[in-house]
Amino acid sequence: MKDHLIIFDTTLRDGEQSPGASMTREEKVRIARQLERMRVDVIEAGFPAASNGDFEAVKAVAAAVKGSTICGLARAIEGDIRRAGEALQGANSARIHTFIATSPIHMEKKLRMSPDQVVEQAVKAVKWARQYTNDVEFSPEDAGRSDITFLCRVLEAVIDAGAGTVNIPDTVGYTMPQQFGELIRTLRERIPNSDKVVFSVHCHNDLGLAVANSLSAVMNGARQVECTVNGLGERAGNASLEEIVMAVRTRQDFFPCDTRIDAVHIVPASKLVSGITGFPVQPNKAIVGANAFAHESGIHQDGVLKHRETYEIMRAEDVGWGANKLLLGKHSGRNAFRSRLAELGIELESEEILNATFMRFKELADKKHDIFDEDLHALVSDDAAALQEHYKLLSLTAHSETGETPHASIVIGEEGRESRAESDGSGPVDATFRAIEKILNSGVELQLYSVNAITSGTDSQGEVTVRLQKSGRIVNGNGADTDIVVASAKAYLSALNKLHSKLERAHPQV
Ligand code: KIV
Ligand code: ZN
Repeated sequence: MKDHLIIFDTTLRDGEQSPGASMTREEKVRIARQLERMRVDVIEAGFPAASNGDFEAVKAVAAAVKGSTICGLARAIEGDIRRAGEALQGANSARIHTFIATSPIHMEKKLRMSPDQVVEQAVKAVKWARQYTNDVEFSPEDAGRSDITFLCRVLEAVIDAGAGTVNIPDTVGYTMPQQFGELIRTLRERIPNSDKVVFSVHCHNDLGLAVANSLSAVMNGARQVECTVNGLGERAGNASLEEIVMAVRTRQDFFPCDTRIDAVHIVPASKLVSGITGFPVQPNKAIVGANAFAHESGIHQDGVLKHRETYEIMRAEDVGWGANKLLLGKHSGRNAFRSRLAELGIELESEEILNATFMRFKELADKKHDIFDEDLHALVSDDAAALQEHYKLLSLTAHSETGETPHASIVIGEEGRESRAESDGSGPVDATFRAIEKILNSGVELQLYSVNAITSGTDSQGEVTVRLQKSGRIVNGNGADTDIVVASAKAYLSALNKLHSKLERAHPQV
């Protein structure tokens, strides 16, 4: 019997800490449902003490997802732990993950605490957390740069205090695979009560080694890996879930354990996370990149046609490529539409919203022959964004012709008022953004503009991501449409709407 390798997904917490990747509560629930469908064991849904929005999102995920354990992060502070406990009250299975830094540099410069104080606080934190749940995880932050004897001391104490999982983070992505594996082995050997807990790892990718470090830890006894879809996360990101799962699955001859992940949901999860966060997946990304299973060279194509395994170590369909079922055409009924949404884990809040989304589906089906699951996700994302709109796109005309200056004219609604403007630009998208700015004069800096075809074919919807920055706040806006100039305008306004609601929350109008 192989050991079970626990997959702890932190896309909704560490992943969300990537600049610009913030997600709404509804988006988090949608991703969490996809993770549940994938049979992820633990979903870290957020950091409830960080903001009311985070608290509400963790609460909503805990209410919606029953097949995975839901986890909330908390510093080793009583107030944080209380917030996490409260947010998780509705969960079927709840975990509190509490952490405190243990490296000399963090203790001295950041916490300004002595090692003795850190041990004391860590033990208190685990005991506080145990008042809310029996499932408590403890992380010594920056373990990769901590003194091993001190780590042993802290971990022994928190295990005695009731932690069931000890997670070893390489917070700054500093360690090398062999070194990190040895660290896990040494901790397991030297800590007298180490057999009472699951050892977990949480690796960052600053040197591109997050997956290698995690797998080395698994070979040395770690039985939980913390990871994210598409490797999203702080700075260079975390270990990528799809790479961990498929490395372990493909090399069962090598690894002494396996996950319970249903891999066919991997590619849809990747597309969902990429669409919601606006972080595109590079084409050559392992498992989920568009070229991950594409063979360009004639020799390779010939080999694959003769015998697939000559150049393929995994099957594209096993990780969900091509799994996006053709939905329905323009003659499809409301019930079929509703049941496909339910299969995708999308629950619309009311019949009224379902009707409006169905109308938009029909409009799309008129323009686009085949509608795929990705189209549905984009449609629902657009509708959810529209519900919170402060600035609304009312109409847009864009004109481009060879030899002529591109021109756009736009009408935007804001609290019942309509404003219109026109502008030239270097292309129709540029003209559209300039026209928007003539009306709103927002003072933002455009940091990223990207277009992705959601599905194949020239009738595909284009999904546009726009990243804007203003006064240190970074937001991503998304928009989808079969017309990419319209998609671009929607994305720009969606980013402005997010900025507006962030500013509203910071300085509410009384
Ligand atoms: O990178 C890190 O150390 C973390 C901890 C909170 C586990 O994200
Ligand atoms: Zn982290």
